[in-house]
Amino acid sequence: MACTVIVGGFFGDEGKGKIASYLAISDKLAAMVRAGCGTNAGHTVVYKGEKFKLRQIPCGFVNEKTKLYMSAGVLVDPEVIIKEIEETNTKERLKIDFHTGIIEPQHRERDTGTAISKIIGTTGSGSGPCNVDRASRVGKVAKDVPELAEYLCDVAREVNELIDAQENVVLEGTQGTFLSLYHGTYPFVTSKDVCASAICSDVGIGPTKIDDVLVIFKAYVTRVGEGPLEGELSEEETIKRGWQEKGTVTGRTRRASPFNYKLAKRAVFLNGATQCALTKLDVVFPDAKGIKTFEELPREAVGFIREVEAQLKIPVTLIGTGPGVEEIIDRRSDLLR
Ligand code: GTP
Ligand code: IMP
Ligand code: MG
Repeated sequence: MACTVIVGGFFGDEGKGKIASYLAISDKLAAMVRAGCGTNAGHTVVYKGEKFKLRQIPCGFVNEKTKLYMSAGVLVDPEVIIKEIEETNTKERLKIDFHTGIIEPQHRERDTGTAISKIIGTTGSGSGPCNVDRASRVGKVAKDVPELAEYLCDVAREVNELIDAQENVVLEGTQGTFLSLYHGTYPFVTSKDVCASAICSDVGIGPTKIDDVLVIFKAYVTRVGEGPLEGELSEEETIKRGWQEKGTVTGRTRRASPFNYKLAKRAVFLNGATQCALTKLDVVFPDAKGIKTFEELPREAVGFIREVEAQLKIPVTLIGTGPGVEEIIDRRSDLLR
């Protein structure tokens, strides 16, 4: 497996948290490194009957042997991360780069109730204003915050050394391809690029070090906040199909549309995907719930996966059949080298 990038293929909330936590256990990851944006992300991990809603800590925390890193490119809100370190009991193995950006209370204030935050429908987490201050070179970084002193390290160096030692490492992105500042539905996007190359840049990993890019798609598309959503269903139809979701960070209702092949193909080339995961298959095909082998899937579900592979021209290696970390079909040993 070596070094794998995990990136969202649509508008975030594809289930990256579940896939990342599964890989930490199944692939005995030496490290999981958080890339992407900041506390605007909400990743959900359901493990041993417990539900964790994380905005900062890498989802690989479920493997106690996995080292956890916050890369230089991301944003940390000290109040949020310190609470999550306690919740996940990760004080001994969580490290933050000296140069990670810091979200302050004033950033949250500037991200709430303003004209631009309403037009875009931001998460109010302060991530956008914090990245504005960072680009203006007036923002704080982690080494300026005494409460974080015990967690600081040179993340780029440590992660490069692990990769050079042939350890399994995952770079965990946030949001999704079409929320990228550069490649998304501008201006209805987040405050930075969040595609695979940006994920490498956040961590300080050169492109030659990456072995796999795993794009995560959900079996349908959701979007929270403003901006275009082709084929958007009415709220009534979304509820009827059982596709209605609530945002992890803001609690807002997510808009929904059927799986979008055009966007998915674009996500494949924008990220240089070598494989993809398909989550929430059980929501579209209830008979797939909890199934762990491809052969046991209902016929319509197999047809859908075959169609995705035919159109995207990459293998669907991981299939989500429920929210739990173990509710997954892992086809990698059948499909990859
Ligand atoms: P971001 O993209 O960073 O926002 O996070 P995320 O991709 O981890 O997704 P988020 O947690 O916001 O939403 C995904 C939801 O789907 C969570 O409630 C997960 O528990 C749930 N989930 C993930 N995979 C599956 C699956 O295969 N089946 C079912 N039924 N639920 C799933
Ligand atoms: P911001 O990132 O808070 O500035 O929000 C910009 C846009 O991205 C809004 O439409 C948000 O709803 C959306 N967004 C940001 N982070 C996430 C996420 O983790 N999941 C889904 N949507 C997000
Ligand atoms: Mg989310």
